[in-house]
Amino acid sequence: MTTVATDIQALETRHVLQTYRRAPVTFVRGQGVRLYDADGRAYLDLLSGIGVAALGHAHAGLAHAIADQADTLLHTSNLFYHPLQGQLAERLAILSGLPRAFFCNSGAEAVEACLKFARRYWYTQGEPRSEFIALEESFHGRTFGALSVTSDEHYRAPFEPLLPGVRFVPVNDPEALLAAVSPRTAAIIAEPIQGEGGVRPLTPAFAAAIMAACDRTGALLIADEVQSGLGRTGHPFYATAIGLKPDLISVGKALGGGVPIGAALLSERVAATIAFGDHGSTYGGNLLACRAAICVLDELVAGGLLNHIGRVGRHMEERLNAVAAAHSIVKQVRGAGLIWGLELTRAAAPVVSAALARGVIVNRTAETVVRLLPPLVITADEIDEGLSGLDAALGDVESDGGTV
Ligand SMILES: Cc1ncc(COP(=O)(O)O)c(C=O)c1O
Repeated sequence: MTTVATDIQALETRHVLQTYRRAPVTFVRGQGVRLYDADGRAYLDLLSGIGVAALGHAHAGLAHAIADQADTLLHTSNLFYHPLQGQLAERLAILSGLPRAFFCNSGAEAVEACLKFARRYWYTQGEPRSEFIALEESFHGRTFGALSVTSDEHYRAPFEPLLPGVRFVPVNDPEALLAAVSPRTAAIIAEPIQGEGGVRPLTPAFAAAIMAACDRTGALLIADEVQSGLGRTGHPFYATAIGLKPDLISVGKALGGGVPIGAALLSERVAATIAFGDHGSTYGGNLLACRAAICVLDELVAGGLLNHIGRVGRHMEERLNAVAAAHSIVKQVRGAGLIWGLELTRAAAPVVSAALARGVIVNRTAETVVRLLPPLVITADEIDEGLSGLDAALGDVESDGGTV
């Protein structure tokens, strides 16, 4: 490691709050699906900053849009109109079928907004409902509301008490869900593919049970598509692909391609219950974030990226299944499009480190799952290159007999 990288890491260790255990790599630039560290070493990025850098790194169109916007106008607040929020909201409405957007700055904020809007809906009906049904293995963010519907005890315990009235049901267990949802349920919140929980897609049968429970009790449905949405699976939103009809969708991550922006998307019947002042954000939907997001969505739709993801996604699935078949420590391959998890028979962290040592970036989630979320622009050849590195990393760990 260069002294530059050592100095950067030492400075952070002294002054940055230690909430993340970082890998000992310092990235200084990127191009497409490649990242380069302070020593000039190239890495193939199969993680895209946890599903954010949808267009890859240093994308010329996005870079130009951001620079042009910085040169024009960055921020005016939500006290005034600007030309870009409406354009972005319209694109999101066409993609999602939900006609209104509230803009914020992160996935957790998008989830917070959805939870508040669900409560507001029932308050306006004159029959306030406060309860939420969430899923085991869920992850919705770390603010108090989002944390309250996140199941992992490890994240929750130090901060309790959280929101009361949240019940967790096992994933893909229709009976448990149907038994838990009642006329007191304000909303069911679910990730169509659970990301942090280990890349677990909801089954169509479970999706049907969610819709049946909503129909029976009037409960709203919040689809948290922060990780699975915006083309990641080859569908604009995975909820619709499995037959869910959400009243609210939370989005974030890929939306700005690296510029922070989140959004809560609302059906008209929920939107009609929200009044001036009910919610807000100083930064939410500023010109810079909207300009970046418009660029990402234009690439996704008019630029043909959605179709591309469908094609390379199928290639990735085939290649991953071949890799899995060659390694006894891989138990299962789960995912869709360009979100995949390899469930291992052992801890995933050593495989992640071995891949990094071979110049391939993946990460671990849910202890035993290796997660892949490559940039949406990745090509079939780049997938092959990345997966042969992962294949070798799995071999490294297997041959080390579990001690790596
Ligand atoms: C499904 C889901 N919801 C919400 C969040 C929180 O997003 P953020 O980290 O931008 O607050 C995440 C982050 O991983 C997520 O995967």
